[in-house]
Amino acid sequence: MKIDKILTLLLILAVAAFVTEAQTVNSGKKIAIINGKDLTDTQGKIINAHGGGFMKMGKYFYWIGENRHDNVLVSCYRSTDLLNWEFRGDLLTRRPNPELADANIERPKVIYNAKTKQFVMWMHYEKRSNYSLARTAVAVSADIEKPFTYQRSFRPFNNMSRDCTLFLDDDGSAYFFSSARENYDMMMYRLTDDFLDVKEQVATLWPGGHREAPAIVKRKGYYFMITSGCTGWAPNQAKYAVAKSIRGPWSELTNIADNTTYHSQSTYILPIIGKESTSYLYVGDRWDGKHYFNSKYIFLPLTFSNDTTMEMPWKDTCNINAIAGTVK
Ligand code: DGJ
Repeated sequence: MKIDKILTLLLILAVAAFVTEAQTVNSGKKIAIINGKDLTDTQGKIINAHGGGFMKMGKYFYWIGENRHDNVLVSCYRSTDLLNWEFRGDLLTRRPNPELADANIERPKVIYNAKTKQFVMWMHYEKRSNYSLARTAVAVSADIEKPFTYQRSFRPFNNMSRDCTLFLDDDGSAYFFSSARENYDMMMYRLTDDFLDVKEQVATLWPGGHREAPAIVKRKGYYFMITSGCTGWAPNQAKYAVAKSIRGPWSELTNIADNTTYHSQSTYILPIIGKESTSYLYVGDRWDGKHYFNSKYIFLPLTFSNDTTMEMPWKDTCNINAIAGTVK
């Protein structure tokens, strides 16, 4: 190949690299999420918040999830735009409580209790040496950015409890959903008023349905729940269900996305309430079960063709405008 052709090729490659980079970074600030790529925080470090949950407090969105560094269990990041995430600290580590020394913590979720003025974290608790405990655990903090105080681990109503999520309803009541009976049943519990315990076993959803990774949102008076099937760390077909009352009846399960959920597993659905509209953001984990730190995140808009029908089209790039309330 002649030298001028080689130079032209190099120029084309350089321009392509610049354009790709410009989609994500603008004067040091990210302007979109590139799905399936490493996501870094404002210090350039890879974000460790797997199986995580999100919440808005004041002007900040918080992202709290699993961190598998040796002595860390749960970490906290915050952002005003859902794109640029600042590491705020570790909320749960192995040190403060002997029960955490050998713990394997998955899918931590945090909600705020306005009566007790406490942030309450529920999570899946196992031992690193023994994945058959199938318990949930609870921790609390008065400050979302400060270490949580570990309370205890237990089986709700003596049921096994693995993949889980919390949901805080408009009326202040809180619910805990978790996979029980070797993940065959999705259990639904109502929490006590202080959110530290279960007070009622509300329902067994899709008995024998083998669902995990629950994520719930309420939109226009309807509750939507996305779950995955159970194939370990390998992705599978996500399904969703709808209910007019959170207590049920819940609809049958309907496929959403493709048969691997675009190589992801649900962890959270975040409503983004903006000046122009309210949008719904799916966040999933693209797990690497062998090299946990290679796990990635998938951010996608959920769209609705009517009040009870939801879709999740693939996007290479997720464009979020938190002020306007749009996700594209
Ligand atoms: C998939 C689950 O959703 C994860 O949280 C984790 O429990 C793995 N399975 C373990 O195989």
